[in-house]
Amino acid sequence: MDRFKIEGGRRLEGTVKISGAKNAALPAMAAALLTSEPVRLENIPHVRDIITMAKLLAHMRCRVESPDIPPSAFVLQAETVSHAEAPYELVKTMRASVLTLGPLVARFGYARVSLPGGCAIGARPIDLHIQALEKLGAQISVEHGYVEAKAKRLRGTTFRFPKITVTGTENILTAAVLAEGETVLENAALEPEVTDLAELLIKMGAKIEGAGTSTIRVQGVERLHGATHTVIPDRIEAGTFLIAGAITGGELLLTHCEPQHIGAIIDKLKECGVDIRCEGKSALRVRAAKKLVAADVTTEEYPGFATDMQAQFMALATQAQGVSHIRETIFENRYLHASEMMRMGAHITIDGNLAVVTGPTPLSGAPVTASDLRASAGLVLAALVADNTTWIDRVYHIDRGYERIEEKLCAVGARIERVSEST
Ligand code: UD1
Repeated sequence: MDRFKIEGGRRLEGTVKISGAKNAALPAMAAALLTSEPVRLENIPHVRDIITMAKLLAHMRCRVESPDIPPSAFVLQAETVSHAEAPYELVKTMRASVLTLGPLVARFGYARVSLPGGCAIGARPIDLHIQALEKLGAQISVEHGYVEAKAKRLRGTTFRFPKITVTGTENILTAAVLAEGETVLENAALEPEVTDLAELLIKMGAKIEGAGTSTIRVQGVERLHGATHTVIPDRIEAGTFLIAGAITGGELLLTHCEPQHIGAIIDKLKECGVDIRCEGKSALRVRAAKKLVAADVTTEEYPGFATDMQAQFMALATQAQGVSHIRETIFENRYLHASEMMRMGAHITIDGNLAVVTGPTPLSGAPVTASDLRASAGLVLAALVADNTTWIDRVYHIDRGYERIEEKLCAVGARIERVSEST
């Protein structure tokens, strides 16, 4: 198991290239199951979750080819699928495996997908995915820890999500494209990753209107064909590097990003005094604040402040003058990083879904443990400003979603060493 050894206190300066969005790439890969023709996906980040999804598709006998090393493009071809099943071993390491449920049942009339179960940040059920598929006419049974879905052909319907769900919207969208007749999804997620998926599906021949709004209309078609698609830049990676520049008193230029997707993050950082400017259409320059001030944040669905940026913002808040109130409204147990930051000297109190951070406090290096993907990013940011050495355990969490984060940070002046158990 790898660990990071981070020497804090170094100012970051330079250029960082933002990778493709993991959360856009995963549903796009699952969508390749909808056609027998090749789907070529570009700007795929080289992160653990993508490798897990590639393994899952290969397990189903989908052809998975990657022309580059490390892979940044994939050609996927699901001519036949002999195992329409997502086994527990893969789902337990990545709950987004559940994104194969919709495409499998829509195209092959059968799918068996392990229930994801709990995870560090909360219960995270998939009841809404199941309800919507039932409404589309699938027969669902949940037995032995697996969801089994069967349908001769799905039938278009109207389904209103009682709660906004990102992968739920994506799963049902990829089912509805091959259903008979019209499907209307109400209270759909607005996230850019949903819109990106719809763009890929439209290239494959799907008839979709309204993606990016809360009502998505789909006219089902008999079959889809191959396509080539470049996935959008990772907005969470971009937000994380904005904070890396701001927290270290540095200046970074982020290239290959989509500033429009991170409006709420940019606005909040500006409120803290951070100087952020667009340079052209796809680059952002961040300069640290002369004086970093506290700000309140409530996590919300897009276009609000992303829950996936909450831990990183908390790290910044420890260095800001005043009291920051952070309210987590999406997941019920997403403050595991707070106790680790407190061990580094942060002043944080937690009351239910409210975290109150009083700053600035000098942080001191300590051994800490990463509990989930974004929590680990928050701990890396805290370690960048801590004095002395911070050891972060279980960095496999960060490898799930950040491409070579230590290399990217070291290239702009950080001192981070990846230490393998065997070293
Ligand atoms: C996706 C993102 C994740 C992000 C999250 C919220 C991917 C692969 N992951 O996760 O990085 O943190 O959106 O922006 O894109 N819920 C139910 N029943 C369901 C589905 C969801 O109760 O059937 C609840 C969840 O427990 C949670 C809320 O709805 O409280 C939102 O979850 P959801 O949007 O589904 O998150 P994911 O799609 O899993």
